[in-house]
Amino acid sequence: MKFFIDTANLNDIQEAYDLGVLDGVTTNPSLMHKEGIYGHDNVMAHYKKICEIVDGDISAEVIATDFNEIVREGEALADLHPNIVVKVPMIREGIKAIRYFSDKGIKTNCTLVFSAGQALLAAKAGATYVSPFIGRLDDVSTNGLSLIEQIVQIYDNYGYQTEVLAASVRHVMHLVQCAEIGADVVTCPLSVILGLLKHPLTDSGLATFLADHAKGSK
Ligand code: E4P
Repeated sequence: MKFFIDTANLNDIQEAYDLGVLDGVTTNPSLMHKEGIYGHDNVMAHYKKICEIVDGDISAEVIATDFNEIVREGEALADLHPNIVVKVPMIREGIKAIRYFSDKGIKTNCTLVFSAGQALLAAKAGATYVSPFIGRLDDVSTNGLSLIEQIVQIYDNYGYQTEVLAASVRHVMHLVQCAEIGADVVTCPLSVILGLLKHPLTDSGLATFLADHAKGSK
């Protein structure tokens, strides 16, 4: 399973990368806004900085909703660095653009996916990744993990190459359950990756080992 970090914060990206387990990064316009990154040139420069930290797929989202504009923006993003993945919303014009990018060998991440039908369409269009948002489904009393399960099954049935990228992952159990189901990738905040480390028996066990070692060396 690949681990992506879902942030535009360079310190968090660096910290996750230094842990040695990071495979890529996802961003979105809200995450860029959270870091105070505005304006075309600043946004492009920020993506470049992310690409300099992480040697892996970096999703950069288009703002346009019209086919020609999505293509223009996506091509400019793809030109920034070979690791850029163009993130395109699950809309009619987006699907057309994903097919266009796919035919040109440009990687894509189809975002804002909330149903199995949408995921099927993204795979048919040749998306590299599909991003179902599990936390946002849970927020509206719908089981996000069941959607991951459905998509994994459908892609398996037909051998689609599109990778299931579980997004809107809010806590450690989301991540672990995605791994059980067989999601190809999870994207989550740094806190969720670090949360995997935690177990009270690890902490108490280590404290005892260190204390016993100290007794022996007296
Ligand atoms: C996916 O790529 C999105 O950036 C993200 O996972 C959305 O998460 P949120 O629902 O916590 O905003």
